[in-house]
Amino acid sequence: MSLFNKVDELRSEFKQALASSPALSDLERMKQKYLGRKGVLNDLFKKIVEVEAHRRGEFGSLINQLKLDIHDLIEERINDHRSDTLSISAVDVTLPGVEYERGTLHPIESTLRDFKQIFHRLGFAVAEGPEIETQWRNFDALNFPPEHPARDMQDTFFLENDSVLRTHTSPVQVRLMLEEKPPIRSIMPGRVYRNEAIDAGHYCLFHQVEGLYVDKHVTMGELKATLELFCREYFGENVKLRFRPSFFPFTEPSSEMDVSCFLCGGKGCRVCKQTGWLEIGGCGMVDPNVFKAVNIDSEAYTGYAFGMGIERIAMMKYGITDIRLLFENDVRFLKQF
Ligand code: PHE
Repeated sequence: MSLFNKVDELRSEFKQALASSPALSDLERMKQKYLGRKGVLNDLFKKIVEVEAHRRGEFGSLINQLKLDIHDLIEERINDHRSDTLSISAVDVTLPGVEYERGTLHPIESTLRDFKQIFHRLGFAVAEGPEIETQWRNFDALNFPPEHPARDMQDTFFLENDSVLRTHTSPVQVRLMLEEKPPIRSIMPGRVYRNEAIDAGHYCLFHQVEGLYVDKHVTMGELKATLELFCREYFGENVKLRFRPSFFPFTEPSSEMDVSCFLCGGKGCRVCKQTGWLEIGGCGMVDPNVFKAVNIDSEAYTGYAFGMGIERIAMMKYGITDIRLLFENDVRFLKQF
């Protein structure tokens, strides 16, 4: 048989093999057999020396053509196999994609952010301090007499070495006034602790935002105007602010502040307990004794301070009736915000 016939024979042998629907593994084996470095076509090519010299070119291109044909036909079959396996595998491209749920801000965090934003526009910086404080910063420097009931074991978590878990963010005021010279204008957001019986309205920790402004000629009128502006921004245009005389060791005069109930507009409802007013915090003019403790001349400077409870305000705003929900981190609750 001539070598030319051998090429034809290999071509028909290959076509026959291909006609028997070879599996993927058979196709790989055929690839090796025909096209591999030691495959039959290379073997045949080596015999080119036996061909008459003037027909060697013809013989070479015949083998090359057969190589290309076999290569293409095998690849085509391999691809068919691949798309078959794709269509019967678990990928159903018509199914809707997996949706990932987006997290939301905790109502306390979003309330804090709202507060910071409004006070930022009113010119207040943000100051923070540690949650473990000395009794001096938490009480003494703030003019709490040694026998003051707020120091009582009932309210304060006492720690070793004369430390406490801060019961309010006011010790940050003390830190600020010791570190900086007036004018000081800052709010102090943060977590505070009280050793109270836990119920729907009380928890052993909560958040406050306090504010402090110390400069020459700071007046109670400015305090009122600033808080009024804040309340209008936060609760709405029509809200009214009411000051009631009160007492805090660190302010004199002191007052408590109420806003007209933003749910009923002051007519009286369940949330404001029919009074038309909601208590939101305390405020007053910095007591000269506090200035003395932090070495600020109370003849030259005056200041105001205020403090609000974040949980209480967030609960009113979002209609939450149990403070414990804010600390349990149950996603069924948190998802609603
Ligand atoms: N520190 C007070 C409290 O915890 C709140 C307050 C701050 C009152 C500043 C007046 C002025 O209750």
